Amino acid sequence: MNKALILAGGLGKRMNSPKPKVLHEVLGKPLINWVIDAARSAGADEIGVVVGHSAQDIYPFLKDVKVFVQKEQLGTADAVKSALPFLDGRILILYADMPLIPAEILRKLFDSEADLVVLTASLSNPFGYGRVLRKNGKIEKIVEEADASDEIRSIKEVNSGVYVFNSKALLYALERIKNDNKKAEYYLTDSIEILANSDFKVETIETSDPDTVMGVNTQRELASLIRRAREMINFSLMDSGVTIEDPDTTFIGPDAKIEPGVTVKPFTFIYGKTEVSSGSTIGPYAVVLDCKIGSKSVVISSDCNGAIIGENCSIGPFSRLRPGTVIENNVKVGNYVEVKNSHLFNNVKAQHLTYLGDATIGENTNIGAGTITCNYDGVKKNQTFIGKNAFIGSNTALVAPVKVGDNAFVGAGSTITEDVPPNALALGRARQVNKEEWVKRRESDEK
Ligand code: UD1
Ligand code: CA
Repeated sequence: MNKALILAGGLGKRMNSPKPKVLHEVLGKPLINWVIDAARSAGADEIGVVVGHSAQDIYPFLKDVKVFVQKEQLGTADAVKSALPFLDGRILILYADMPLIPAEILRKLFDSEADLVVLTASLSNPFGYGRVLRKNGKIEKIVEEADASDEIRSIKEVNSGVYVFNSKALLYALERIKNDNKKAEYYLTDSIEILANSDFKVETIETSDPDTVMGVNTQRELASLIRRAREMINFSLMDSGVTIEDPDTTFIGPDAKIEPGVTVKPFTFIYGKTEVSSGSTIGPYAVVLDCKIGSKSVVISSDCNGAIIGENCSIGPFSRLRPGTVIENNVKVGNYVEVKNSHLFNNVKAQHLTYLGDATIGENTNIGAGTITCNYDGVKKNQTFIGKNAFIGSNTALVAPVKVGDNAFVGAGSTITEDVPPNALALGRARQVNKEEWVKRRESDEK
């Protein structure tokens, strides 16, 4: 059985942030979730996470994993010990602060037959990392930055913080690790020396892409890692056939699926589980989270969250789509239009200054400028149903719950509180009064 144990119990002191380190986001996704997903795609049968002080804050981000609590932050070996019942079979141990670790390299480590295999990397600036000491080419031990002499500090090969242990070897080492070092912590890295000096087989694999083992300890490191992650994702999308006009101002998360033939314009953020189909253009200035966008649609200067958008649609500029929005094909949602939890069928147009909440709008219906569904009565949300081929005049207030039938017309400026039958014209406004010569009369009164 292949298991993965992710250590997230540390305080993250060097971040100087009240928020737990592992909840800081890289491209819209918390550090811890990058690592959990990597372990899962590497084929770990079970995943355990060790949490510490901020356990309560981290729980909501942990799905389908076993959680262990490390009571006191006594070091990485102590963190592993707090998950003792989890330790059998082959165990991948990795730290929650290294989001770019690729699943392929984790798979390679699982495949090793050594009792302990350590992933190393050669860094031009190894500051802060544990250094790898070798004797006759074989790994001998790892020395942490704080405990290293100047000579050891000049070593460029570092411990990435990713290991696969055979559980017997791991338990053997855990029993013997002491805290006689500068930080008085129990270092998991001491297991290398302990096992190498016994009959266990200890090996290393060096990654050819050191950026992928970058850890985050400070806010500055987080920012450079975000930059690197962004480059990796944007470059790989461009290689696959996506046009990204300005990668420096384009932020795309790791779980977004963007088909070749999509154009992403500058200052755009595509996060979460968003999918965009070929021929669509997203941006400039678009923020898209957890949306599905069909082919040949355009989203300009808009904020879209949890919406499904069909083909040939035009969204924006300055539209806001909120969760539960379903927009079919050839729909136009224009400037200053907000849509929430509503279904817009084919060819609907809502082009200006409108709020559609908890509404169903039938196909070919035109929603005039300034139309508002009054969906909230102060207690609960109510539904508005508008049929197909209807025409809602400008500045209409639809007081829900209310229905407008197929082919119906609503006069501009109406407040609709009663259902409108199909094919009817509804007028819900005061009749206009013209007072002839009123201006002249006022003028003579003033004299
Ligand atoms: C660690 C390694 C170092 C390696 C580097 C790679 C040790 C002793 N050192 O150093 O060799 O080069 O990672 O990035 O392992 N944690 C706990 N409980 C604790 C302490 C830490 O769960 O008591 C967790 C942290 O949340 C973090 C991970 O372990 O996710 C690593 O801890 P951190 O303090 O960041 O270790 P580094 O100093 O970076
Ligand atoms: Ca670290």
